[in-house]
Amino acid sequence: MNTNPPKGTDSALFTPIVINGLEIKNRIVKAPTMESMATEEGAPTDRLVKHYTRAAKGGSGLLMMGLCSVSREGRAYPRESGIYEDALVPQWKGFTDSVHEAGGRIVMQITHGGRQMDPDLIRGRKAKSASSMPNLFYLYRSQRLTDREIIGIIKEFGDAAARVKAAGFDAVQIHASGGYLLAGFLSPLTNLRNDSWGGDEKRRFHIFEEIYREVRQSVGSDYPVFAKLHLGDFLVMGHPFPANYAAALRMQDLGVDALEFAIGIMETCTMTFSKGEMPVDVIDDHVGPLLKNYWKAVGLFYKPFSRVKKPYFRTAALELKRRGLTIPLLLAGGIRRFDDAESAVRSGTADLIGMSRPIIREPNLPRRWMNGDRRESSCVSCNRCLFDLINANPIRCHYTKDSSS
Ligand SMILES: Cc1cc2nc3c(=O)[nH]c(=O)nc-3n(C[C@H](O)[C@H](O)[C@H](O)COP(=O)(O)O)c2cc1C
Repeated sequence: MNTNPPKGTDSALFTPIVINGLEIKNRIVKAPTMESMATEEGAPTDRLVKHYTRAAKGGSGLLMMGLCSVSREGRAYPRESGIYEDALVPQWKGFTDSVHEAGGRIVMQITHGGRQMDPDLIRGRKAKSASSMPNLFYLYRSQRLTDREIIGIIKEFGDAAARVKAAGFDAVQIHASGGYLLAGFLSPLTNLRNDSWGGDEKRRFHIFEEIYREVRQSVGSDYPVFAKLHLGDFLVMGHPFPANYAAALRMQDLGVDALEFAIGIMETCTMTFSKGEMPVDVIDDHVGPLLKNYWKAVGLFYKPFSRVKKPYFRTAALELKRRGLTIPLLLAGGIRRFDDAESAVRSGTADLIGMSRPIIREPNLPRRWMNGDRRESSCVSCNRCLFDLINANPIRCHYTKDSSS
């Protein structure tokens, strides 16, 4: 492998790109990663500021935040960030000022948990989603949203986007993946409605369309609005199932400025968007033995499908381009080697590449690559960072050689 090429601009990865007026200095994005570092009210903490100023100094062209809820009721995790009240705006403004001073560009990902909410957080109420549906990760059933509730949520996304802009973020991303609320509407497996919000592909897309319009109205035409699209619930030989490529083209037609996508829901995550191990031993005893043993059994079943060998959504990215997607496309998932990242951009498979776990492990990785040290990331996809989020602990890399399984 080429470990020591000359320093400088020999690489497509280190060329700039402009998206709806936003200048991004290179093609490496810190992919959205739930930080579990907010206060109980969803406000940024000093720890979150440090986390992102460090990432900014590490050289990523763009930093995407993890889940940030548009409403109190929509929070999926106890330490999730929130942007559901005007009172939070000055605190987020202080946060974006610090990231900008450190040389970063930062995007807030706005979301609603839908059918995937920590059971501790929703105690006494029900998680709400497109349809009443069992959640096979947390072992509960969600409740179907009423028309009125859906209209309320659309408005909440619009209001949240206005706050994102007022707080100084460089762009907003509408989160419609990972199995959370909007992903749940997009999939025929979790949206069983037969009304204006479900029944066919166009109606399953309706809620995103309304949210996009509301968001665009809040932020204006010259502010970047990105989306993270749920392309399917399962990953089969590199392809999503059931495939939702049509939604990507609908998003493009609506005016979305850049698209990230993922395949998978919480129930399938270690075989899909967070391919890798399922380290149940990381989870502390607040989760009962029944659920832990169930997760262990699921992990054993998933093991043969979970190995990270190469960028695992590359086939889907190629298919999106083949079908006519022309807006900037972000490819994330399993990128560990400089050569894979470089060739994705150079070949036009993607316009930007995203890394989540490698940048948790080594925030300085983009700068290291830029400076000519192009050894691959030492992330082994042990997923201990992911499973510790269930304990509501702040995100960090846990991997040492002894913790490998
Ligand atoms: C610990 C962890 C937290 C994540 N949190 C989010 C999130 O908040 N929002 C999101 O869209 N994706 C989230 N993801 C998915 C990542 O953005 C990314 O798609 C995935 O980890 C694959 O990229 P990687 O192989 O570079 O880690 C998370 C992944 C991990 C491992």
